[in-house]
This record gives sequence, C-alpha cells and structure tokens, in this order.
Amino acid sequence: MSELRRIYLDNAATSWPKPESVYCAVTHAMRELGAPAGRGTYAEASEVERLLRETRHETARLLGVADSRSVIFTANGTDSLNLAIHGMLRPGDHVVTSMAEHNSTLRPLKQAQEHLGVTVTRVPCNGEGLVDPDDIRAAIQPHTKMIALVHVSNVTGAIQPVTEVGKIAVDHQICYLVDAAQSLGHLPFDLDATQADLVAAPGHKGLLGPLGSGILYIHPKRESELMPIRQGGTGTQSETDTQPDTLPDRFESGNHNVPSLLGLRAGIAYLTERGVTTICHHEQQLAERLWQGLREIKGLQIYGPQNALQRAGVVSLSIDGYDPQELALLLDSHHRIQARAGFHCAPLVHKQIGTNQQGGTLRLSVGALTTTAEIDTTVEAIGDIAAAHPF
Ligand SMILES: Cc1ncc(COP(=O)(O)O)c(C=O)c1O
Repeated sequence: MSELRRIYLDNAATSWPKPESVYCAVTHAMRELGAPAGRGTYAEASEVERLLRETRHETARLLGVADSRSVIFTANGTDSLNLAIHGMLRPGDHVVTSMAEHNSTLRPLKQAQEHLGVTVTRVPCNGEGLVDPDDIRAAIQPHTKMIALVHVSNVTGAIQPVTEVGKIAVDHQICYLVDAAQSLGHLPFDLDATQADLVAAPGHKGLLGPLGSGILYIHPKRESELMPIRQGGTGTQSETDTQPDTLPDRFESGNHNVPSLLGLRAGIAYLTERGVTTICHHEQQLAERLWQGLREIKGLQIYGPQNALQRAGVVSLSIDGYDPQELALLLDSHHRIQARAGFHCAPLVHKQIGTNQQGGTLRLSVGALTTTAEIDTTVEAIGDIAAAHPF
C-alpha cells in the first residue's frame, strides 16, 4: 500500500473516518454485550435494549420528534425508502417525483409501476440540478398519493426546495416522502418546516454510524396507512402469529443490527455535542474552498447550483479529455485521493445536467471530519492532472 496518507472524499457513499467513540461502541457491542435487542432478560440483553431505546430517543431528538416510536430502524437508506414506497402505495395511485432522485427511490417506484399499476410523473430539474416546486404542483393529479423528493442530490449537491414542496403536499393532502440521505447530519433538518410525512435516511452517512443502519420517520397521521413490507419475529407478542400493530415493532421484524445501531448512537452523540449547525458550516466552507479552487483549473467543469447557498458538500466535475473513471483511478493511484466516478446510482439527473454522454461525473464529497489541508491537496492534485491533459 502507498506511503501517502489516505484522503477520503467519498462521504456521500458512506462517511469515513467515524468519530473514535463509534468504533468503541461497535467493539463494546460485539465483545462485551453480545446479545440481541428485545429478546432476553439477562443483564447484557437488558443493557442492549436500554441502549437501543436511547438510540431511538436520540435520533428522534435530532429530528425534533417528540415520540421516539415514530422512528423506525432499517438496514440502510434504501431499505427505508422501500418501506416508505411499497408500504404506502396501492394499485391506481399516482406519484410525483423528480429526475434528481437516487435509484433507491426510482427503482421501487418503477417496480410499483410495473407490478402494482401505480403511475409516476418524474418532473425535470434544471441544468444546475434544481427542481422547481411549480413543476411539482403542476404534476399533481386527482389520484396523487405521494410526492417523493430528495433533499440533497448525491450528484450535484443541490439542496432542493423541500419546504416549499411540503406546503404543496399539505395543501393537497398528499403523503410527502423526503429522502434525507445526503442531508441528515450534514444540514440542520427542520421537520416542522418541511412538513414531511416520511423521512428516510441511512445511519452510516451524515449520522456517522457504521454501515448497516438506516431510519424512517413516520408521521403519526400516516402510521395506519403504511403497511409493513416484512413480517416476522419482533421479540414482542410472541404468543401470536399475527404481526404486532404497535410501533416500532410493526415495521421492525427480525434481529436488529445491534453493533451498527449502537455505533449510530455514538455517531449521533458526537453530532449533538459538536452541533449540526457547526458541522454544516464546516462542510459548506470546505465545499466552497473546493469549488473555488477547482473553478480556476483550465478544462474543468463543475456541475450543480452556482449559488453557494443552494448546494451542500457534494461536488461533481469533469475534465476535458478524461473519462471520469480514469480520473478517479489517477487520483487514487497517484495521490491516494478517493472519490467516486460514474452515474452515482442517479441515472436521470445526468440527462438534465448534460453529463450522460461522458459517463457521468467525478464526485468529491466532504464529511464532518474532512480537513482544509485535504481539500487543498485535492485541488492541487486535480490541477496537476488537468495540466497533464492529453490533448
Ligand atoms: C440520495 C440518496 N438516497 C438514498 C441512498 C441510499 O442509501 P444507502 O446507501 O444507505 O442504501 C443514497 C446513497 O448513496 C443517496 O445518496
């Protein structure tokens, strides 16, 4: 392995490094506790149960939710979106979504289209990756059941107008699903202002937990409408073969990923202590430094909103004459700078921002523990690569 220090700029995929306390919590869960949640009365099982309750409570607090039972634990962001989409939609429903969505929204919707007779309108975004709330309003039909919108694009970093769209959803009494995969933990998330009925997010990105956890917030008014998509053991009401209808068990069948969730608890404690607003400021400053450094480089294009207030810590770029995959390889092999290349599981947005033909973009994404020095090294390395342009 190279002597160079690893510079990790793929935080949009999963955050790294994690706070030290997260590693400790995972190790403690595996070595000392070694017990399932909600399935035993011995000391370690009771302790796991208590810590899991605290994780749920702290996650709810971060979201500004009073009743922590409204927070469901899942396996990842994709799992949360699947539960929201498949659990809510019925034959004949119509959904409004956008071209900026991740495949974790687009693919469950496609499945619902093909197998459930659901219809879907995907509104476009502009060349900067931003969705216009008027387009969402105009797409509403009498049978529109759901509006599904990503808060921050994992390709352009565009912060979508989730509050304006929330007002539209409330006006039309439509279920509003927000994909907060790239925003929760990165930006202050105001649930009251957003008025979302369902909020889906991974635990392993901005919330700083390990891989293997996700959350879905369910507004009490949607609880009874949302059907579980998995049934099974919950550790509760074991005397019956009927799925419990109490929260959170109704949606949490099967053993929890205890090490991941206890790691998530430590991640959220770190976020709470440092403050999401402080982290947001840190990440936006880094993204701004990156953006300003990159825009000086000849032959380089940056995608996403021109207005810094409309973008988060995800920066997509291309360099004339280079395939994005080649760029990622060069950055890793020569500089040990780790970024992601391609379509980033969001195929439709590339048609909108003009990056389809070139094979997508090179994406750099910062995190709570990224440093200014890492950004400066990255800008320099990309400048060197661009200067060695083959044409
Ligand atoms: C916008 C968006 N939604 C959903 C997901 C899916 O999250 P997970 O990787 O935890 O399944 C991602 C992951 O990259 C994402 O960026």
